[in-house]
Amino acid sequence: MTRTRITETIAWQSDNPHLTGNFAPIGSEIDAGPLQVIEGRVPEDLAGAYVRNGPNPRYEPASYNYPLEGDGMLHALRFEGGKAFYSNRYVRTSGFEVENRAGRRVYGGVMAPQPVDPALLGPHDDPENPFKMSAFIGVQHHGGHLLATGEGEPAWDIGPDLETRGPWTAGTDTPLIMGAHNRVHPVTGDLFALTYDLESPTVTMHHVGRDGQLRRSFDIGLAAPSMIHDFVLTERYLVLLIGPVVFDMESMMSGGSFIQWRPEIGTRIAVMPLDGGDVRWFEAEPFFVFHFANGFERGEEIVVDYVRHQKLYVGYGERNTEPPTPRRLVLDLGTGRVTQQTWFDRVAEFPRIDDRRNALPTRYVYAPTLTPALTGGNGASGTFNCLLRIDTETGDILPHDFGNHIAGEAVFIPRGEGETEGWLATYLYDPETETSDFVLLDADGFGSDPVVRLRLPQRVPQGLHGTWVPA
Ligand SMILES: [Fe+2]
Repeated sequence: MTRTRITETIAWQSDNPHLTGNFAPIGSEIDAGPLQVIEGRVPEDLAGAYVRNGPNPRYEPASYNYPLEGDGMLHALRFEGGKAFYSNRYVRTSGFEVENRAGRRVYGGVMAPQPVDPALLGPHDDPENPFKMSAFIGVQHHGGHLLATGEGEPAWDIGPDLETRGPWTAGTDTPLIMGAHNRVHPVTGDLFALTYDLESPTVTMHHVGRDGQLRRSFDIGLAAPSMIHDFVLTERYLVLLIGPVVFDMESMMSGGSFIQWRPEIGTRIAVMPLDGGDVRWFEAEPFFVFHFANGFERGEEIVVDYVRHQKLYVGYGERNTEPPTPRRLVLDLGTGRVTQQTWFDRVAEFPRIDDRRNALPTRYVYAPTLTPALTGGNGASGTFNCLLRIDTETGDILPHDFGNHIAGEAVFIPRGEGETEGWLATYLYDPETETSDFVLLDADGFGSDPVVRLRLPQRVPQGLHGTWVPA
C-alpha cells in the first residue's frame, strides 16, 4: 500500500512546553540517505532498523497532556553496508484518518474528551468512543509484524516502508486491543500484552504465540479502573503493579479530572503464575510506575528493576518535587515481604535493557537523566541529556553526558551474545542549531566517544519508545 507522503509545515504554535522546542511536531514525511556522518563510522555489520515512535500532533490540540496524547509518528534509521537511511511516517490510525478526512482537529483531549460528530467517522469507528486512536507510544516487532502501539487501542500493523496497513488482529477476526508495553517470554518467544479498561476494574491480558496468533485472553479483577502502563514478565509469572491512579468518569462529568491520584488506595502488586495458578497480592505504599526495565526470578524472590514516581504528575502545570528515580523492588514469595533499593537519587526515566534478556536475570540498565550541562532546554518534563549505564550488581553508574544536547530513551542493539556486546541507539537534539543527530554508543566501552554520530535531514521531535528490527 503506497500512500502519498504528507508534506506540509505545522502552521500552529503553542506555548505549552511539551509542544515547543524539540517537543514541537513536524509536518513532513520524508525518505533520505545515505546520511552524513559527523563522527566515527557506521559499523559495517550493523544491519536492520532502529524505529522509534512518539507524539506528533498534526492539528493544534484543544488541550495537551504529555505523554498521554498526540498523533503517532515513526522515525526509522535503516542500516545497510555501512550506510544509514532515514524515513518518517505518521501512524495512520482510524483516529488519524478521521482528522485527515476532516482536514482539522476533531477529537478533544484525553483529560476532556468531546463527542465526535458521527458523520466524520469511518464505517468501523465507534461513535460511542470519544478518545482518539493514535498509537503514539511504542513500537514492537512480533510474529513477523512491526506494531505501533498506544494504550487501550489496537496495535497498528506497520509495513516495510513504515506505511500503516491497519489494526493488528493476531490471527483473529477483530483488532486486538492492547497497551504500549508488551513483553516476550524468553523461552517460548510468546508475547504477553495488557489492556486496562477506563470504566470497569479489569485488566485483560492477551497471550499471543511467537507465530503472532492469539492463544488466549484472560481478565484480572482490580479494586478500581486503574491506569497500568507497563508490567513485568518472568519465566513463570506475570507481575502487575497497580499504583493508585484511577479513572473517574463521574468526576469528569462534573468538571473534575478524569485521571485521579488516590494515595489512600496504596499500591497493590499482583503475582500471577503463567500456568494458571491463583493470583497472589502484595501491598506497598503509594507510588506509580510508568516503566519497568526488567523483572526476573532469583530463588524464592522476584526482582523488579523499574523507575519509581512518588506521585503521578501529568502535563506541565505541576512540577516534580520528587523526581522519578531508578529502583529495584524485591518480592519475597516465601515471606511476602516487599523491599526496595535505590540506584540513583536524581531524575531518570525510560529504562531499557538488552531485550534478549527480558524476564531473565540482567545486570545492566540504561536510562537517561538530566545534568546541568543542558542549558538550552525549555524545562519541560521528559527532557534528558545524559545516558546512564547502571550496574545493578555493583551499583556502579557510568554516565555518557551529551552536554547541551537533548537525548531520549536508548535502545540496545545486539552485536554479540554477551550482555554488553552491543550498541545503544538514541536521537540527539541541539537546541542551539535546532538540528537532530542520531548517536550510537558502545555498551561495553560506555562513556567513550560515540561509535557513530549521524546528522539527520530534519529535526526529530522528542519521542517515547523505540525498538531494533534486525534485517
Ligand atoms: Fe511507555
